[in-house]
Amino acid sequence: MATVADIWHRAWHLAHAGHVPDGLTAGRTLAAFHERTPARVADTTVAEDGGRVVGFIMVVDDEVEQVFLDPDLHGSGISATLLAEAELQVAAAGHDVAWLAVVTGNARARRFYEKHGWSDAGDLPYEVTALGERFVSPCRRYEKRVRP
Ligand SMILES: CC(C)(COP(=O)(O)OP(=O)(O)OC[C@H]1O[C@@H](n2cnc3c(N)ncnc32)[C@H](O)[C@@H]1OP(=O)(O)O)[C@@H](O)C(=O)NCCC(=O)NCCS
Repeated sequence: MATVADIWHRAWHLAHAGHVPDGLTAGRTLAAFHERTPARVADTTVAEDGGRVVGFIMVVDDEVEQVFLDPDLHGSGISATLLAEAELQVAAAGHDVAWLAVVTGNARARRFYEKHGWSDAGDLPYEVTALGERFVSPCRRYEKRVRP
């Protein structure tokens, strides 16, 4: 899970800095990601390229909680495979509709979800904790039907 933490940290800052409260960005240190990942093994599926972990999803019930790809591979198409797998996992768990929260200013991710058939279902202020402090991230809720 160490590589997952490294990718999570790098890609998170690329996509979120400036679009979430500054205190939250400050709290998302590399060490914090390394602390968080071991507890998430059961929710995590990784993508490999040439035997190297390059991205991951975390799925919890009907929520696609995380979709992260090594920034060196953005635009490669690997993220489409990851997202399709996340949708399959939500459907396999018995849910008709998958959902996720995406930070409002994360334009690349929003375009990515929209081109894969996800719809903007409205405002979703998302509460998160970093360094023991609570923050509200301005997010949108996206949804996609994953079973007929
Ligand atoms: C989100 C993520 C998995 C998508 O994977 P990706 O390989 O970058 O996705 P793609 O390149 O296939 O799609 C991105 C689209 O956004 C477009 N795009 C890029 N920058 C953009 C911007 N600033 N504004 C609007 N669209 C943008 C791209 O042109 C592409 O659209 P196109 O295929 O129509 O040209 C990846 O970018 C990532 O890991 N980001 C960091 C972590 C993150 O934000 N995760 C999601 C959290 S909810």
